[in-house]
Amino acid sequence: MTKRSKFGKFLRAVIATPIEAALYIPERISMRHECHASYESDPNWEVRLHRCLGAPWPCPERTKLDVLWRDIASELQTQGLRLGRQTYGEYSDAEISLARAVWCSVLHQRPSVVVETGVARGVTSRIVLEALNRNDRGHLWSIDLPHPFEKNLHAQTGAAVPDSHRRRWSYIEGSSRRRLPALLRSLAQVDLFIHDSLHTARNMRFEMEQTLNALAPGGIMIVDDISTHQAFANFAQDFPSLETIVCPHSDRAGSFFGLVHKPA
Ligand SMILES: C[S@@+](CC[C@H](N)C(=O)[O-])C[C@H]1O[C@@H](n2cnc3c(N)ncnc32)[C@H](O)[C@@H]1O
Repeated sequence: MTKRSKFGKFLRAVIATPIEAALYIPERISMRHECHASYESDPNWEVRLHRCLGAPWPCPERTKLDVLWRDIASELQTQGLRLGRQTYGEYSDAEISLARAVWCSVLHQRPSVVVETGVARGVTSRIVLEALNRNDRGHLWSIDLPHPFEKNLHAQTGAAVPDSHRRRWSYIEGSSRRRLPALLRSLAQVDLFIHDSLHTARNMRFEMEQTLNALAPGGIMIVDDISTHQAFANFAQDFPSLETIVCPHSDRAGSFFGLVHKPA
């Protein structure tokens, strides 16, 4: 993309949503100070997650996700959409390891309140909703700013979530910086939080700190794409009473997501 067309897209975004555009500027600036984190992932992360959840291992639910995963891929395909990396502008759909963490967390924790940031085509949202339906309890609130510079992608928002699964879902449009604090105040407690929105260190830290105050004892945070900066490592260091786990993505060496467990 040329500099001129990039600037044109930014200008159109400023006109369409001036507050969101203004909130994006400090994020963009803060990225200049980010440096890659050198994490060692834990090969036993799934065992540890199940221990945190008080669930058995080997997990009888684990492989059931494979069927759902194939369904999601084929339903997206019938809409002309591919499941994978960088399918929503520069943003990616969840990959299978993150999806497994989400699936098992919801099934075993049986949460009342799940909050996520970052929907795009809604792969993680679908997995949460499918698991909530199986539990026959709980609700998902998803905060999402549709791609600020690629309006043509907006029609894809939530494409992986069929109407039949929307009963337990509240979609809140806007940046997490604007929407998350008020949502958390209105909910009082969160059992499970999933960060998959803007992966700057500044935004990740903001979301994690905000949510920690509302996280229930025994609560879990699943934080995607922690590799490009130190936010997750710094958070783990600043809150040593929390158990933190670094988990490998299945499709990319050196790419990770993080888990946080607040002891009961
Ligand atoms: C990585 S994608 C989400 C993928 C999704 N969880 C899935 O599994 O399919 C990131 C999403 O967050 C949105 N986003 C970007 N900046 C945001 C912000 N500040 N607050 C909330 N959402 C944001 C993007 O437009 C995109 O829809």
